[in-house]
Amino acid sequence: MVGKKIKIGTLISGGGTNLQAIIDSCTDGRINAQIMFTGSDVPGAKGLERAQKAGIDTFVVDYSKIIRHVKDDLTGSVGKNNMSSVILPKGFNLEEIRAKQNLINKDKGSERIDFFLKSRAVAEQKLLDHISPYEIDLLVLAGFMRTLTPYFIDRINTVPGKFRIMNIHPALLPSFPGTDGYGDTFRYGCKVGGCTVHYIDYGEDTGPIIGQRAFQIEDGDTLEVVKQKGLALEWQLYPECIQKFAQGLV
Ligand code: GAR
Repeated sequence: MVGKKIKIGTLISGGGTNLQAIIDSCTDGRINAQIMFTGSDVPGAKGLERAQKAGIDTFVVDYSKIIRHVKDDLTGSVGKNNMSSVILPKGFNLEEIRAKQNLINKDKGSERIDFFLKSRAVAEQKLLDHISPYEIDLLVLAGFMRTLTPYFIDRINTVPGKFRIMNIHPALLPSFPGTDGYGDTFRYGCKVGGCTVHYIDYGEDTGPIIGQRAFQIEDGDTLEVVKQKGLALEWQLYPECIQKFAQGLV
C-alpha cells in the first residue's frame, strides 16, 4: 500500500482475537499502519503472546495490583506511621477530572468517585510512561476492559476536537454499554445483536460512533453462538474503521 503508514498503539486485556485481526490487516495491507506496541492491564494476557509472535513491543501495567496498593494506602493499612506511599501523578487535578468525568454517577458518593479517579490516574500515568515515546497517531482498545478517565484521555487527545482513542464494543450502542455487551443483548431477548466501533470520550461507551455491524439472533442460538457471530463481525469491522482513520476519513 502506498502512502505514509500511521503509527498505532494497542491495549488489550484478554485473548486478543481483535488484535490478531488488526495485526493481520496491517501485514496484508488492508490497514496502512504499523503497530508500535501492545499493552495490557493483565499480566499474562494471551493477546500479549500474539503481539510478541508478530515482533511487536509489549508491556504490562498491572491495574489490580495498583488499585489494591492505592486502597491499602488510603485506608491506612500500609506502613506503621500511616504515611501515604501513593504518589499521584504530577498535574493530576482532582477537581477538574471529577467535573469532566461521566463514568460514575455523582450519586455514588464523592469518596468512591475520588478513589476511582485517583487509583486510575496512578495506573494511567504508568500507561502514559510506556506509550509516550512511541508518538502514536491512534490508540486502539482491542478488548481492553478498563475505562479510561479524563486524566488519560486529555493526555492522548492533545489536539482540540480530534479524537485519538478508538474502541470496539460488543453491542449496538447506545444499547448495552458496559462490560458484557453480548451477554446483555442475549439476556434481553434481542433478535438482532451487533458490534460498534467508536471513539472514547469522558463517558462509558458514549463517544462518537465510527462503524457498526449487526447480525440476526435465531431461535435456539446460545450465548456462545451470539458471541461467535459477533466476534466474526468485529474482526472485519475494526480493521475497516482503523483504515478509515488512516485515510483521514473519520
Ligand atoms: C470483544 O468482544 C470486544 O468487543 C470486547 O471484548 C472482547 C475482546 O475479545 N470489548 C469490550 O467489551 C470492551 N468493553 P478479544 O480479546 O478476543 O479481541
